[in-house]
Amino acid sequence: MTNSLGVFTKLVSVSLILAMFAWAMPAATADDVVIAERGMVVSVSAPASEVGRDILKRGGNAVDAAVATALALAVTHPAAGNIGGGGFMMIHPAPGSNESPICIDYREVAPLSSTRDMYAHTKNALGHKAVGVPGTLRGLELAHAKYGKLPWKSLVQPAVQLAAEGFAIDDYLAKEFNRINHEGSWEAFEEFRRVIKPPGLQAEWHASNTFQQPDLALTLTHIAKNGPDAFYKGPVADLLIAEMEAGGGYITKADLAGYEAKPRSPIRGTYRGYDIFGPPPPSSGGTCLLQMLKMLERYDLKSKGRWSPDTVHLMVESMRRAYADRARYLADPDFVDIPDDLLSEQHIAELVSTIDLAKATPSADVAPDIPLVAEGTSTTHFSVIDADGMAVSNTYTLESSYGSRVMVRGGGFLLNNEMGDFNWHPGKTTTTGQIGTVPNQIEPRKRMLSSQTPTIIARNGKVILVTGSPGGRTIINTVLQVVLNVVEFDMSPRDAVDTPRLHHQWFPDEIRFEARKSSEYAKLISILEQRGHRFSATSSRQGDAHTIWIDPVTGHFHGIADRRISGHAAGW
Ligand code: DON
Repeated sequence: MTNSLGVFTKLVSVSLILAMFAWAMPAATADDVVIAERGMVVSVSAPASEVGRDILKRGGNAVDAAVATALALAVTHPAAGNIGGGGFMMIHPAPGSNESPICIDYREVAPLSSTRDMYAHTKNALGHKAVGVPGTLRGLELAHAKYGKLPWKSLVQPAVQLAAEGFAIDDYLAKEFNRINHEGSWEAFEEFRRVIKPPGLQAEWHASNTFQQPDLALTLTHIAKNGPDAFYKGPVADLLIAEMEAGGGYITKADLAGYEAKPRSPIRGTYRGYDIFGPPPPSSGGTCLLQMLKMLERYDLKSKGRWSPDTVHLMVESMRRAYADRARYLADPDFVDIPDDLLSEQHIAELVSTIDLAKATPSADVAPDIPLVAEGTSTTHFSVIDADGMAVSNTYTLESSYGSRVMVRGGGFLLNNEMGDFNWHPGKTTTTGQIGTVPNQIEPRKRMLSSQTPTIIARNGKVILVTGSPGGRTIINTVLQVVLNVVEFDMSPRDAVDTPRLHHQWFPDEIRFEARKSSEYAKLISILEQRGHRFSATSSRQGDAHTIWIDPVTGHFHGIADRRISGHAAGW
């Protein structure tokens, strides 16, 4: 690695942000759900949601709005909005269309010079060497070429304008920028700090200050004029390669020129008569989400109640089993044979047969064949629907907040550190959560396993819920809970997003619970502990699920911005 920062520093800065979140969701008011009839965009950033909404107003469809929103987020939400990262876009066509739902896989790939053991002796997930070949612009290009209606340039232009003219930052961004400017662990990333220096002679950022990014404006202007080729083969590629050469990174011209986004069939299944569409490998999201839903569908959770100890016990037991399968089987399907029966009735029945209703199964017993030795907050999700009912659920990421922290000099954009999602330490799976199983080990051009879970739920061909979240491995469980809250427990969509979330990922064998410290849940926690569950001491924020629910009676779109960071629903 080219810098001296370790995973530890990364975790410290992440936990500092998380420490600011204690379980205290503000009471919902009518304004917290935006209701509209002709279109809706919900994202973490108000200016980006508004860009998407305006594209819908100008006659664009949900894919046009999603492309414009993604590019705007690359300007307004630099922690995760990106052109230097990758992700997954689920698209559900309008009712009556001949098209089927599709997932655009624009996950990053390992550089050509990668080797299985390239990080075997390092723990560092930052800096030039951690960067995977970015996929975002090829993904947006593919989605636009297949489904878009408005010209490409018109979708990039709002982002150019936001970068060139600047936009008023909110309190969240002001705090983030001040933290980065003051924290010692960011010193090695001078170019990033230069770009986010407070305006004029100010020492600090304040909410409503204008943030301008001239280098990024120029990059986006090239992309507006010449399409994503500007990034993969043209002047932006030259800047990216120069940055790699200066910092000792692995990405070459051949890596960039050879990157391809891929259309894939979503993972599809049903839950209580609803059709669920989630992303297929190289994301584990769709497979694990459906596995958990299929396990849970065998129990009458509704009559047990959302916060009954039995319901939470069963949720956790299904999480534990799905995450063990994740480690055992899931990876890039172009490199690894993934069993095709992971969602079969028989496999689900086998998983369920080992669940004990009275006590927690130790995680080590769930997959005794996987050898064990004594392991960010940023990705971002947005949801879109247009007047015809076409929907887009998009999650994309730089992996850690601000990715590798490498800002391409002259290009004004950050690069991901997605190589950290491969199994870096072959053979070493730890009880603390590091996974070393074979399928997700590094190979040139392979996509690293993801947990991103942009999800769409439909009934009779009509979309009823669009959701997804950031949160690394917690993502799948966040989506599971939003889906169950709406579909199983009939919670209002606002409550479904607000209610506290929990997470179990097989290892570490413990439950993380947002409301860990709230007296309201003390009895529940104590009963579950008696059943053998262990709770983590932390109660950090879990996810940021910007969601759209479509009222089946009125057909109105309800935009529910998750309020855990700062979100905005823009309806029309
Ligand atoms: O693709 C993945 O699963 C991870 N790179 C996502 C990382 C993430 O969500 C970080 N924080 N929220």
